[in-house]
Amino acid sequence: MSNDQSPFVTLSDISKYYYDHGEQRVVLNKVSLEVKRGEFVAVLGSSGSGKTTLLHLIGGIDTPDDGSIVIDGSELTSFNDSARTRFRRRHVGMIFQLFNLIPTLTVWENVLLPAELEGAVTAKLRNQAAALLERVGLSDRRNTFPDRLSGGEQQRVAIARALAHQPLLVLADEPTGNLDAENSARVLSLLLELTREAGRTLMMATHDHEIARQASHICRLHGGAMTTQPVAAPVP
Ligand SMILES: Nc1ncnc2c1ncn2[C@@H]1O[C@H](COP(=O)(O)OP(=O)(O)OP(=O)(O)O)[C@@H](O)[C@H]1O
Ligand SMILES: [Mg+2]
Repeated sequence: MSNDQSPFVTLSDISKYYYDHGEQRVVLNKVSLEVKRGEFVAVLGSSGSGKTTLLHLIGGIDTPDDGSIVIDGSELTSFNDSARTRFRRRHVGMIFQLFNLIPTLTVWENVLLPAELEGAVTAKLRNQAAALLERVGLSDRRNTFPDRLSGGEQQRVAIARALAHQPLLVLADEPTGNLDAENSARVLSLLLELTREAGRTLMMATHDHEIARQASHICRLHGGAMTTQPVAAPVP
């Protein structure tokens, strides 16, 4: 376990290439970054700049072609596929742009699914999940299926699902990208509140500069490279 001062997430020279009709396309080119525990990092960049790719590498959904990723002292890039998946299920919460709820499962079953896959549904976890559903204002919808929910409600379920197992790291990929302004503000403040109060580390891809102003650091992806700048006084 790292202490509060040592970096919680360390990316060292990570590169990712894709091959399109035999031609190599460099999406990330030797990207390095250090994120401390409890920080909120906003990842900005135009469409196609590699934001989703970067979050998928950090979440262990995909692997880099080069470089290393260390999270809380564990070198993700040294793990095999199943160890990486296990690490993600235990320690990472992911929130996607399109919610990615399972349509055949109820709200409650969706929230419990990551823990279910890990064989870790305990009474404590059920209590945490129920408390989270309460916090996101959807306790009374636990037996509803996702197609009966609005976009904002679906994303609030996805937040409860991502946090129910109390992950160390939360990765959110344009979580408000498909919501109207009112829902977007509600989802964002819930996500920030729930990650901040637990001291969780949050990395969020976004196109929204207003959101980025609330981060502790802003990372910009452009042409495969990443630049990082601290936000002078993050908006609370
Ligand atoms: N599986 C894949 N195979 C080939 N190319 C891919 C694959 N996944 C992503 N890419 C390419 O990598 C580049 C970066 O994609 P990525 O999805 O990371 O961008 P993004 O910054 O998240 O964009 P957006 O803001 O539109 O979501 C794009 O040019 C995309 O076409
Ligand atoms: Mg994307």
